[in-house]
Amino acid sequence: MNEQQNNPDQEDKASEKLATTAYKGVRDFYPADMAVQQYIFDTWSKTAESFGFRRYDTSILEPSALYKAKGAQNEEMVNEQTYTFTDRGDREVTLRPEMTPSVARLIAARARELAFPVRWYSIPNLFRYERPQRGRLREHWQLNCDIFGSDALAVDVEVILLAQQVLLDFGAKPEQFVIKLNHKVTYANTIKGIAEGLGKTVSEEQIAELSRLTDKFHKLSESDYRSALLAIFIQDTIMVEKINNFFRSTAMKNTTYYDWAFGGGLELEHIENSLKELNVKNVSVDPTLMRGFDYYTGTIFEIFEVDADGNSTGRSLIGGGRYDNLTQMFGGEPVSGVGFGMGDVTMRDFLETHDLLPDNIDKAGMTLAILPESAEQHLFAEQTALAFRKADHSTIVDLSTKNISKKINSATENNTRFVIVVGEREFNGNELTLKNLLSKEETIGTVDQLLETLSSEA
Ligand code: HAM
Repeated sequence: MNEQQNNPDQEDKASEKLATTAYKGVRDFYPADMAVQQYIFDTWSKTAESFGFRRYDTSILEPSALYKAKGAQNEEMVNEQTYTFTDRGDREVTLRPEMTPSVARLIAARARELAFPVRWYSIPNLFRYERPQRGRLREHWQLNCDIFGSDALAVDVEVILLAQQVLLDFGAKPEQFVIKLNHKVTYANTIKGIAEGLGKTVSEEQIAELSRLTDKFHKLSESDYRSALLAIFIQDTIMVEKINNFFRSTAMKNTTYYDWAFGGGLELEHIENSLKELNVKNVSVDPTLMRGFDYYTGTIFEIFEVDADGNSTGRSLIGGGRYDNLTQMFGGEPVSGVGFGMGDVTMRDFLETHDLLPDNIDKAGMTLAILPESAEQHLFAEQTALAFRKADHSTIVDLSTKNISKKINSATENNTRFVIVVGEREFNGNELTLKNLLSKEETIGTVDQLLETLSSEA
């Protein structure tokens, strides 16, 4: 008796078929999806390059230490969301969940040679073990644009301007999104100011904890938010009341925030005013805007989608800010950075919701299809195709067993612009007939003559 007969479980397993679905939270890109993806990437690159950004990339694999280093941390991400494993050489490896630590590594490694400020962009795929939901997946692609080596506030302004330009280049209207601004120093000074007003002090650790909580401000109920505040301020109910009121106060105007914030408010005010001067109208300063990463030191910003009624949907399209110390974890002089990340998942949702995807996105067909009448002409058709490809015309040979009228139909369906039918007459002669499927016009000539026709039509 063999083992399988002994063990019915094993027999079941052997007949079990593998699923054709993708791993949870990641996407397959069939050609039609890939066409949309390519359109998004092309638009990203074009806009970034129009601002003088140069492209870089890194491997998806990084040593886990990169995300655990002090200053680089996002606790939730490191503890709960990274794909981390031990390799065969006992090294702890992580699939990159974001690009910023990797690009900081690249900058730190060449800090002596680079002519700062440098403007770099990348479109990496990133992996985060999140609960898959609308706009959030386990693998996404993210446009990263960062400027390194400049402390000028004008750089913060330019990076935000670029982030907005990307959306405008997709055809978005300014009223379809809102740019929210905050500043780590303004924020910290405000909290300290509130405490001082009560004759109390707050520690840096409490401010860091409060920042992490503020990141969840709009997701938590008021009572959960209050309990979390009580834990941070060690059951100091007066302080908690004041902080809660500050964040919740709808009457609060920016001026009040700036008044609270002493020196830190000046930078934020300058950035807000500069953007308005550059005609960026949909900017609003928001003390409840916080970013999950500890490395931000100055300006932070996020761009949210706005629905037809003018309300923010809470969906974040772009997030970024200034980080002045991230390269320090590699030793050497600190090089400041400011930049943003913009995800393809939310971008695609946004483009679909607002009907901004071009109609012909999946219709970039071949230039030419060569249609052999029968198998005898296959090789001749292939040979002919080579001449057209050499001249940069995308060309397919239809090797199916369909008859010619069906071959012409499928070429039309695939948006092919021209066809050449190859039968016995063409095989034995010197001339071919090039047919324009749109105008139905026909040109008869040698390959060289037809190449001329094609170039004049291009
Ligand atoms: P982030 O806010 O984590 O920032 O991500 C930036 C954008 O990436 C988000 O606004 C969102 O569009 C998209 N995104 C993030 N996570 C996911 C996900 N799980 N699924 C789909 N889309 C997602 C950063 O990563 C910073 N490192 C960006 C940065 C660059 N800051 C300075 N330079």
